[in-house]
Order: sequence, then C-alpha cells, then structure tokens
Amino acid sequence: MPEAVLVSAETGDDAAAYRLPDGRALVATVDFFTPIVDDPYDWGRIAAANAFSDVYAMGAEPALALNIVAWPVDDLPLEMLAEVLRGGQAVAAQAGAVVLGGHTITDPEPKYGMVALGFAAPEEIVRNATAPPGAALFLTKPLGTGIVSTAIKRQVAEPEQVQAAVELMATLNAAAARAMREARAEAATDVTGFGLLGHLERMLEVSGVAARLDAGAVPLLPGVLELAERDVVPGGTKRNLAFVRPHLDAASLTEPELLVLADAQTSGGLLVAATRAEELAGALVRLGVPYARIGETVVGEPGRISVAGHLSR
Ligand code: CO
Ligand code: CO
Repeated sequence: MPEAVLVSAETGDDAAAYRLPDGRALVATVDFFTPIVDDPYDWGRIAAANAFSDVYAMGAEPALALNIVAWPVDDLPLEMLAEVLRGGQAVAAQAGAVVLGGHTITDPEPKYGMVALGFAAPEEIVRNATAPPGAALFLTKPLGTGIVSTAIKRQVAEPEQVQAAVELMATLNAAAARAMREARAEAATDVTGFGLLGHLERMLEVSGVAARLDAGAVPLLPGVLELAERDVVPGGTKRNLAFVRPHLDAASLTEPELLVLADAQTSGGLLVAATRAEELAGALVRLGVPYARIGETVVGEPGRISVAGHLSR
C-alpha cells in the first residue's frame, strides 16, 4: 500500500483517507440507495446527509460532492429527479460543501446518492479501530429508522413517526463530529446499515476490546419497539441480528428489543468512544447535539457485547 494511504478498507472504516502532497488528508466515501421515503426532496436530503455522515465520522470537514443518479426516465418525471437533486443540494450547502456534477444512468429502479469528499489534518482523523478499554460510548441519534422505513412501506407508520424519522435522517452529523474532535475522542463510526450492534461489534473487534451496553440508555424513535413487536422489521435488520448474535451476552432482552438494537439505520448518529467523557458530553451540550451515553468499552474478548436492562419505550 502506498505510504500516502492513511486509512484503507482493511479496518472497515467509514471512509478512505489519503495524504495529499501538502500534508492534509483527503477523506473520500460514496453512498447511494433506493427511495426510503415518499417525498423526493426528503429522499435527496436524507441521501446527502447519509453520504456526508461517513466524512464526519472520520473527523473530517466536507468540501465537495458528486451526484450519483439512476433514474427510470420513461416512468418517472424529470421534475421529480430535480426535487431529489434540490434536496441533496440543500443538505450539501448546510455541510458547507459544493456539488460539482455527477453521473446519471437509466435504471428501472431509482437510486440516488453522492461521492462525498472532505479534508482533515491527518492527526485529527478519528478511526473505528482505536477504541481503548475504559472509554464511554456515546450515541448521537435515536435508533429505529429502518423499522420506521419498513412501516412506511407497509403503510402502518403514524404521520408523526414518519416526520420524526425523516428529520432525523436529514440531520447532518456535523455538530456531533465537531464535539468529538474537540474532546479528542479516541474512536468513532456512524451507525448505518449494520445497526448499532453490528457497527459496535466491528469497532470493538478491530480495536481489540469488549463492551457493556445499558439497554435502558439507548434512545429510540417513538413507537419503534411496538413496531418490532408486531414484526414490522426489515430483512436487513434480521440479518444484522443473526450476524451479531454469537458476539452477544443479552439474555435479559426480548427478541424485539434485540432487533431494535440491530436495526439497519440510514443516516444514523455517530457512535463515539471517548475516555474524556465529561469533555465530550460538555461539547455535545454546548453544540446542541442530543446524545445518550449508552455504555463503555472494557477489557475482554474483542467484539464481545454484554447488554443489560431493557429498552425504555
Ligand atoms: Co459509516
Ligand atoms: Co457508507
């Protein structure tokens, strides 16, 4: 691997990092997906927030983006695509990034996302493989967007549930990332497709530590546990739980509770490991980021997760 490669795909990190000739690190990631909400503008906002999230999770500041579009040109109006792009543009502007083009193909199934690029000082990059034992674990968004998205598809979601999930997914992790940098947090990742348990397991395994989670401290979108109890759960969430189950000590939790903890998120919050926990909590409060302290890393079998208590409704 060339010396300029600072972070590669080896550790399953959120983005690649590459040292530029001037010493700064270029942080690069790409993400795109099929529609998860009905409104095209909201879908654009969510896809952009999700793409920039991996830049933030690395401790970098977004700079520019390129659109990736697949569109059924014969079946869906181009005005609708314009709304998707307008949503993506609006969130890019919030991130302080410019959208400088992209690429579109025709496809029976619409897809949208971005290549997102940012910069960081190499020493400020926050990896997922560097969580020490004895670090507090912070989560900066509630869980349940996968379950709510499935409820939308099955037309069983309450309007307020949909609204809360949409705003959550369209919210950038910008302030959370700033707080994490200020507190010099040791490790971070964002909670996306593998769910909280999946991303935590990965972080712990590559860091060589275990963790204890307090289920009652994990924040949830309203009504998510009830939906899980009615089996309104995406296939990806069930696969996540099956994957992570061998690493879990969670005898007290019900199956729906475990499914919520493994729920595949879109544009989820940052999962941060920090030994300067009070400093991080203070920075999150000052920057107006809702957060929860959900547990801690401990010495133990790498990747092992013990969960105690019950989710609070
Ligand atoms: Co990520
Ligand atoms: Co990603």
